[in-house]
Amino acid sequence: MKIGVARETTPGERRVALIPEAVAKLRTAEIHVLVERGAGAEAFFQDVDYAEAGAKIVTTANLYSQADVILRINRPSPAEMQQLHSGQVVIGLLAPLLDPAAMAQFASLGVTAISLDAIPRTLSRAQGMDALSSQANVAGYKAVLVAAEAFGRYFPLLTTPAGTAKPANVLVLGVGVAGLQAIATARRLGAQVKAYDVRAATREQAESLGAQFVALKSAVDASGEGGYARALTATEQAAQQAELNDIIAAQDIVITTAQVPGRRPPVLVTAEAVECMRPGSIVLDMAAGDLGGNCELSQPGKVAMTKNGVAIHAPLNLPSSMPTGSSSFYSRNIYNLLLNFIKRGEFRLDFDDEVTAATVITHGGEVVQTATKQLLQPKSRGGARA
Ligand code: NAI
Repeated sequence: MKIGVARETTPGERRVALIPEAVAKLRTAEIHVLVERGAGAEAFFQDVDYAEAGAKIVTTANLYSQADVILRINRPSPAEMQQLHSGQVVIGLLAPLLDPAAMAQFASLGVTAISLDAIPRTLSRAQGMDALSSQANVAGYKAVLVAAEAFGRYFPLLTTPAGTAKPANVLVLGVGVAGLQAIATARRLGAQVKAYDVRAATREQAESLGAQFVALKSAVDASGEGGYARALTATEQAAQQAELNDIIAAQDIVITTAQVPGRRPPVLVTAEAVECMRPGSIVLDMAAGDLGGNCELSQPGKVAMTKNGVAIHAPLNLPSSMPTGSSSFYSRNIYNLLLNFIKRGEFRLDFDDEVTAATVITHGGEVVQTATKQLLQPKSRGGARA
């Protein structure tokens, strides 16, 4: 069996799906690894490192014609889709629920598409395969560094002969994987951190990292299925926004990570709240994207400066800005997932296995994953999780 590692072509993407360390492990299991020339270069893994680990460096055309399984980060581009052939397996962050039509295209090509973002996050056996978590972890860390870099003052309390610097006040909204790492990182830098989430279970987690949990009078426990939150009702959301406005106004930095899978991100930081923030304050909206963001003023992929001197950062691919670390984690996730599928040197799918049933989106010319199939049915409604 030949496993291929693709070079990412999505603009701005610097990560690579498999690093040389994992190539060496696959080689000991007698699996051949083909690496598209330059695949790891942007993440500082050179072709020579892959070759030394036992991989064969190949051209783009040879990768797509020879590999049985293609590993990648993002969905293939239209040009790459054209090079796929029936019977091939593609594994990556394919976002089936955001673009089910693209999954139908995999099916029509006879390609088996396996998506790492569909790993059941609450299944402990699958935690080592959970690329959404590993990448959100990197993103939460980097978000704080981006905010700290842009901030005009110190994070820690500093007493010096030239005076005392007050610690920065950081508020983290949404205490999932990214939020927890943001809390931990801001605390390590010495900031005073507050946090808020609609899932009651997050209080203890945030506090254990040294954050003060914000108690809203309007708080409801909106824990939903699979460890995710449910969407708030319009009334609940309005009450939450109103109470958060005052708290936000007192912060130097607000980092937002709130998301409900398959929905528009809830607006937690309104234009009105931003207007009340002090000049030099920063909002970093991690949930910003095509569907909107947690801040009303976010411009996805940009830094917007308001008239009152507040910078609204809405970075789209933080993990890519730390490509060596994020690729190493991703590579470990994909290696663990491969172990789930490779039995005695052959790629096998057992649909009775929970991980297989959740992550295999297309197979044998059909869309087989239930959630994606439902979205492709004419009268179906969205709202499932990726
Ligand atoms: P997660 O699902 O683990 O965490 C999201 C948290 O938001 C959950 O704890 C949920 O309870 C909370 N939440 C939902 N609605 C809320 C509300 N109304 N008020 C307060 N909290 C609420 O997600 P994860 O993995 O931590 O990712 C967080 C976000 O970061 C996602 O939007 C994800 O797409 C994004 N992300 C962005 C990256 C970037 O480069 N910008 C990179 C990686 C992730």
